[in-house]
Amino acid sequence: MAGRIPQSFIDELLARADIVEIINARVPLKKTGRNFVARCPFHDEKTPSFSVSPNKQFYYCFGCGVSGSAIGFLMEYDHLTFPEAIETLAAHYGLTVPRENGAGREKDEAERQRLQALYRVNQEAAVFYAHQLRETVGRSAVEYLRRRGVDGKIARRYGVGYAPPEWEALCRRYDAQLLGEAGLAIAKEGRGHYDRFRDRIMFPIRNRRGQVLGFGGRTLGEQGPKYLNTPETPVFHKGREVYGLYEMLQSGGRPSRILVVEGYMDVIALAQQGIPYAVATLGTAATSDHVRLLFHHAGELVFCFDGDAAGRKAARRALEAVLPQLQAGRKVTFLWLPEEEDPDSLVRKEGARAFEERVRQAEPLSSYFFRGLSEGLDLSQMEDRAALLKQARPLLQRLPEGAFRQMMRARLKELAGSRDVETRTERNESIQRLPRLRQPRVEERVAALLVHHPRSFACLPDGFREAAKIGRHGELLAQLVLTLEMTPEINSTVLLEKFQANPHLSHLQELMSQEAFQSIEDPQRELLDAVTALNRKIDKLRLKALLGKAEREGLTQEEKAELLTLMGGSQGSPLLVDIQ
Ligand code: UTP
Ligand code: MN
Repeated sequence: MAGRIPQSFIDELLARADIVEIINARVPLKKTGRNFVARCPFHDEKTPSFSVSPNKQFYYCFGCGVSGSAIGFLMEYDHLTFPEAIETLAAHYGLTVPRENGAGREKDEAERQRLQALYRVNQEAAVFYAHQLRETVGRSAVEYLRRRGVDGKIARRYGVGYAPPEWEALCRRYDAQLLGEAGLAIAKEGRGHYDRFRDRIMFPIRNRRGQVLGFGGRTLGEQGPKYLNTPETPVFHKGREVYGLYEMLQSGGRPSRILVVEGYMDVIALAQQGIPYAVATLGTAATSDHVRLLFHHAGELVFCFDGDAAGRKAARRALEAVLPQLQAGRKVTFLWLPEEEDPDSLVRKEGARAFEERVRQAEPLSSYFFRGLSEGLDLSQMEDRAALLKQARPLLQRLPEGAFRQMMRARLKELAGSRDVETRTERNESIQRLPRLRQPRVEERVAALLVHHPRSFACLPDGFREAAKIGRHGELLAQLVLTLEMTPEINSTVLLEKFQANPHLSHLQELMSQEAFQSIEDPQRELLDAVTALNRKIDKLRLKALLGKAEREGLTQEEKAELLTLMGGSQGSPLLVDIQ
């Protein structure tokens, strides 16, 4: 039985695995300098910006910002869970995955089994509903689907089914308690359960691995809400999942863009008409989780909205969700539908070609942004221009740094007729937002060696002294280095003396009291080793900070170059040229 995988095994596995080999087996890589590159498998692009570092054993895409280890790659590329990716990797290297025993293991195992049970009962319900659609009881549902232009092939692809008009169709057949947990049944006041979905066309909602998480059910009649959805359950979170993603991925090929629509029937009608790259949010506005999920599968998102008030409100929410994720290489447009139409009615009326023409002409985010925010404002009035600034500034601040943000700022300046739209705090914030590096232990080792053997400082390479002065190693070390630079002949006692009024005095004294450092045979050698380790650690932290920032808001050219250097690439690599 599967328990928790020990961290030590994961570390060992990652140490043994070769990310280049793992990725190359799936996406052919080309060597450039010290790294390997390819066209990114996670977004659509013409020139390669996907880079794999054999030294650092991770991958990074300068286009869409994805990054990770061999395990992460397998999760994304093969659509695996974390344990599944580990199993795959271990099997590749002929290793057996050990599992931990004990209470933690049992708890994990119980949780895992509970989730599995929920996936299973959802799957069983989907099979049951699909079956009912093909029985006599489902005839009216089939007729309804036909009237709406849906044929058997598309219904099968989307696993469409029918919940019969009975109170216990599911409850009689499956574990009612479990059905309740899965949101498929509702507990009665007294005891027992009844089916949540009755006399409805059922749309199974699957994750990208094809597991059924929940359902949407459309009523055939006029009673009750038009659509009922599975409530939040341990496996179904409507803010994180979209309808139609699995079917889109199954329909083959990697779409260059994904249409984001509102309804189940919109997705199905578009697929029916030959547009298989639409997904629907599940009765909620698009969330940043949705956006992150979708950008993993395409570089362009097209949001479809009604032009009415509700549509405009939904568009505004979508705008806010996408702004922080608009790295270079990503694009968002808004497709405004004519009055009284939704994608379903429109594509059936006009056909796929006309609809795709609309998609191509959808309004770019940049245009919608300023048009939307200026609505109801008269920009010939200073007051209204100030109002525009007030609204637009904080939004633009959410964009990742880069050319697009700059252009948007320039446009705002133009529209608002203001000389400076960027405030001083904003400028500072963008620097400070990189996480501050925590003081690592190896740093204390360097400091301790310096206090005990101040003269050995002279043997350190220039690069280190320069870096230390910037203060990235923590204040104590930086001040120590400065002092030693000014007074290279100093001894420990005088050094401590110089720190008498320094806030770091007690820390320094504590280091000084660690006698083990005194009796070291070759302090210069020790110091060099410690500094090398320190630099490695600093690079790693910096790398992590940069990758984090790349994911959150994108990198400046300078930061990209720095990242490339940290990844071990040479300055003149073609990759660097590509991203400039
Ligand atoms: P719409 O009301 O626009 O319906 O809801 P639709 O998709 O055009 O439905 P048809 O064409 O009449 O069949 C859009 C989406 O909002 C959610 C559903 O996800 C639906 O697909 N919704 C709508 C609900 O969750 N509950 C409702 O009662 C209505
Ligand atoms: Mn509709």
